[in-house]
Amino acid sequence: MGLLDNKTCLVTGAASNPGLGHSIAHVFAREGAEVLVTDIDGEGAQRTAEEILGAGGKAVAWQQDVSSEQAWDDAVERIRRDHGKLDAIVNNAGIAVLKPIEEITLDEYNRQMLINMTSVFLGTQRAVALMRENSTRGSIINMSSVAALVGVIGVTAYAASKGGVLGFTKAVAAETAREGIRCNTIHPGLIDTNMQKQAAVENTAEYEALNEAVPMGYMGKPQTIADAALFLASDLSSYVTGTQLVVDGGMINQ
Ligand SMILES: NC(=O)c1ccc[n+]([C@@H]2O[C@H](COP(=O)([O-])OP(=O)(O)OC[C@H]3O[C@@H](n4cnc5c(N)ncnc54)[C@H](O)[C@@H]3O)[C@@H](O)[C@H]2O)c1
Repeated sequence: MGLLDNKTCLVTGAASNPGLGHSIAHVFAREGAEVLVTDIDGEGAQRTAEEILGAGGKAVAWQQDVSSEQAWDDAVERIRRDHGKLDAIVNNAGIAVLKPIEEITLDEYNRQMLINMTSVFLGTQRAVALMRENSTRGSIINMSSVAALVGVIGVTAYAASKGGVLGFTKAVAAETAREGIRCNTIHPGLIDTNMQKQAAVENTAEYEALNEAVPMGYMGKPQTIADAALFLASDLSSYVTGTQLVVDGGMINQ
């Protein structure tokens, strides 16, 4: 018996390895879900699905740009046609444009908001519609960050996008609670993924200082976030909605 037996779960941004979506897709499959793996990197998404199939799990993959409304409409059609329902979605795909306030351009800001925030709006809106169609008491999990909760230097637009995800998720949770649709955010601290490796290259000093600031003394593994997503996707969290689940080794505990 898996915690997600008979559930159909979509995970966006699941190509990058090591990456949060990749780890979430694997953990969901291990727990019995049929995982719909998507990413703008279609080949990478396919790779993740093949790994899952190779391990005896259930998965299908397709290329999807989460900032495209058309791509979301296509995804909805596909889920209706091939799977009939959606039990959980993890709006995980994202990018990090890490620049201080005076350096970031409007184009960079808009791109950051489009990929990290507008995408979450689109994915959540489509998921709510699919869940309502079948009266599914589904779970929507939106990937935010500790940057939405505390001031971090050099991440202005990124923090705006993740703060947007937080407020948006709470409003959706309020709108959908009566139908048993749950909507929550996860706020990772520093997690060892390709995104973090890139941040380390771009700003080594800041990166090292941040690492030293983790009270538990080490950077988290993607699995720690996948375990949090498993809790929120499963019936273990059946009475949890509108909450912000911080997984950060104590970073913002003050
Ligand atoms: N790693 C961390 O420390 C950390 C901390 C806080 C929040 N997060 C958030 O967690 C999420 C995953 O981060 P990660 O560290 O695994 O990053 P990652 O860069 O390793 O993986 C991100 C994935 O998203 C995909 N992606 C990018 N743009 C896309 C688009 N337009 N459409 C579809 N897919 C797209 C990439 O191809 C990649 O596979 C992001 O939303 C990130 O902001 C990460």
